[in-house]
Amino acid sequence: MERYEERFLIAAGIVLLLFLGALAYSAFAMHIVLPSAHGMIHYSADRPLRLVLRKTPPFDNPGVREVSPGRYEVVIVAYAWQFVPDEIEVPAGAEVTFMGTSADVIHGFFIPGTRINTMLIPGEVSEFTYRFAKPGKYLLLCHEYCGQLHHTMHADVVVK
Ligand code: CUA
Repeated sequence: MERYEERFLIAAGIVLLLFLGALAYSAFAMHIVLPSAHGMIHYSADRPLRLVLRKTPPFDNPGVREVSPGRYEVVIVAYAWQFVPDEIEVPAGAEVTFMGTSADVIHGFFIPGTRINTMLIPGEVSEFTYRFAKPGKYLLLCHEYCGQLHHTMHADVVVK
């Protein structure tokens, strides 16, 4: 083997090990992982998801609730092609925990200008927390193609 080739192989090996090391460090030491399901909702052909959701807390009662001073919970169910509720009002600076799921197909959950960007998957619970620093009107968009009226699927988030 040429010496030149050998050096390249060694350099490539070192770079690979560095990247794998960085990946392992971020996952195991810093706990940076992809969002995963915070719960499953079991349904079947004779127990369709739409009906199961109507009886499964908290999705049997979607909406905004203050759980303790300065802490809010927003429960959202996505349907083709609407979010329920489609208007969400929370105070600026509050800790807002979103809990969402889909009643039919995969929908997106994206609020431009924030780091809120996830998917709502039928049978899975998506949960994340966010603080809106500035008051204003934000747009919640579905950014996963979900059928004919996908482009109309949105909700308003009013931060006061
Ligand atoms: Cu829902 Cu696209």
